[in-house]
Amino acid sequence: MRLGVCYYPEQWPRDWWADDARAMAAMGIKVVRLGEFAWSRLEPEPGRFDWGWLDEAVETLAAEGLRLVLGTPTATPPKWLIDRHPEILAWSAAGQPRGFGSRRHYDFSSDVYRQECRRIVEAMSARYGRHPAVEAWQTDNEYGCHDTTISYSPVAAEAFRHWLKRRYNDVASLNAAWGAVFWSQEYRGFEEVDPPNLTVTEANPAHRLDYNRFASDQVVAFNRLQVDILRRNSPGRDIIHNFMGFYTEFDHFDVGADLDVASWDSYPLGFLEQFWFSPQDKARYLRQGHPDIAAFHHDLYRGCGRGRWWVMEQQPGPVNWAAYNPAPLPGMVRVWTWEAFAHGAEVVSYFRWRQAPFAQEQFHAGLHLPDRREDVAADEARQVAAEIAGLGAAPVTAPAKVALVFSYDADWLFQIQPQGHSFRWLRLAFETYTALRRRGLDVDIISPDADLAGYSLVVLPSQPILDAGFVDRLRSSGAVVLLGPRTGSKTRDVAIPEGLPPGPGRALIDVTVRRVESLRPGSGPTVLIDGQPFDAEGWSEVLETAAEVLARFDGAGPAWVRRGRVHYLATWPTPPLFDRVVEQLATEAGQILTAPMTDVRLRRRGDLTFAFNYGPEATTCPAPEGASFVLGGRNLPPAGVAAWRSA
Ligand code: GAL
Repeated sequence: MRLGVCYYPEQWPRDWWADDARAMAAMGIKVVRLGEFAWSRLEPEPGRFDWGWLDEAVETLAAEGLRLVLGTPTATPPKWLIDRHPEILAWSAAGQPRGFGSRRHYDFSSDVYRQECRRIVEAMSARYGRHPAVEAWQTDNEYGCHDTTISYSPVAAEAFRHWLKRRYNDVASLNAAWGAVFWSQEYRGFEEVDPPNLTVTEANPAHRLDYNRFASDQVVAFNRLQVDILRRNSPGRDIIHNFMGFYTEFDHFDVGADLDVASWDSYPLGFLEQFWFSPQDKARYLRQGHPDIAAFHHDLYRGCGRGRWWVMEQQPGPVNWAAYNPAPLPGMVRVWTWEAFAHGAEVVSYFRWRQAPFAQEQFHAGLHLPDRREDVAADEARQVAAEIAGLGAAPVTAPAKVALVFSYDADWLFQIQPQGHSFRWLRLAFETYTALRRRGLDVDIISPDADLAGYSLVVLPSQPILDAGFVDRLRSSGAVVLLGPRTGSKTRDVAIPEGLPPGPGRALIDVTVRRVESLRPGSGPTVLIDGQPFDAEGWSEVLETAAEVLARFDGAGPAWVRRGRVHYLATWPTPPLFDRVVEQLATEAGQILTAPMTDVRLRRRGDLTFAFNYGPEATTCPAPEGASFVLGGRNLPPAGVAAWRSA
């Protein structure tokens, strides 16, 4: 468990650097990330490198014993490069190049840009790759940020045609897979196919899903070209990328497979404001973030990093980019930091050392004010550093007993054909996670390809494309399995499966989905369990089934059925219904639940159990009688953390 910070020496006078480095070390910071946007300073003119300033920054930080993560600067191609090669720019859905003057102004498919990236990454890693203070590399910065995964440029169109040719080999297969006979969409050759953009009405869903897959593969390939160079020039150093929150436009498991460590950028207050949370939740958790926002991503990125993960950027105060940007409750930066460590983070690194007085992010807090004095979070970072030292070696993070299956193509598919405006897969996955966490369960978020051994409960929030291999693995896992609504509802080519949904899922449970309907928010179906009514969100399915019925739609057919260890849900539950479902599943899986919690969350790391209070009021820590606390105590104030060792 180490603390880190993001530092931009190129943005500060040189005679501040040594003081900054000393202050970092004194605060208990161990790791510094730098360099990731500095291309215009590293190569001010084509082919003329200026390493002097970075050499000095590296030596200054290293002299204080700080360990370094160098970022490749490829998120910010300099002006001279764009002017020489405007074809590097990505194109918007409106069919326009996206201009220079901010960041991420490049197209993943541009071969010219890939060549330029090879050049800068090669040069930078040749110079610093073996420096003893350099312990890791960050590739680029936040792939996909500012909607940059998908581009409609001519170079992307050309690369897409090659991708299709590799996937389908002959165009007749593409026409068949896409159902292109519908509306005379048939093609005579791959060269006729364009990106699914600027069509009169919705484009063919199979065409769109393939475009998502193609775009995702381009990110993987772009990242890999950097990884290959870094591995060669910087042996023994970890390679990391900093992923984002609630972001699904490429398959992070695929990118993660090439990394040593996954990391993510945690901005709980910005995410609460920007995403689907209710006005009540936005008010209640205004200064804390919803209790599951950070944890959900910790568990997801632990999965992407095959156990190894960091928080590369931790919100230290108000951010600048959400619609409204409140300050965290005093103590919240400490809570977020400990919650990450409780979920197994190796490093939590604050963004940023000092607030910038110029350019786009002037309103973004740091650990320091622009005038060099400390800001609020500095004390909290110092406190965590002291607490880490007091705790001693961090226990190992064991796999959880409960797995939630996270599927990027499920999210793409339901964005393409939601059938009900509010059906967002990512929200369903998050609410499923919340239902498990409210009852005190530790959860691993895993890819559909992950090994299921050791799990006693496997939850699929919804897995529309369900392949037979996964069905076999679910069956032989011996776990209790929940198949959420719309599981098995599509083939990989976005068609209704033979024999109707859940397609191959019918080998797990005797269910056929005959019809579905979507309803406006607030007018969803009522579900009855033993005569007790529960609200559901606006989705319901008509099932033909001989399986045991655990709940019914009021005045209609089954809403929740079970055969053996496999459950199928024909609706999207609201929290009270989810709670009943979780209770049933966990009991069958032999998992012990806490009473339902609103604001408090628990998480175990080895023999340590942590409790966090995200609510605005003090509460009592749900620790066992006589627990000996190593952090906090029985009284859990707002923004409170407690931890105790199991006997
Ligand atoms: C992240 C990004 C940082 C900074 C930060 C502000 O998305 O990686 O460079 O912009 O947001 O919150």
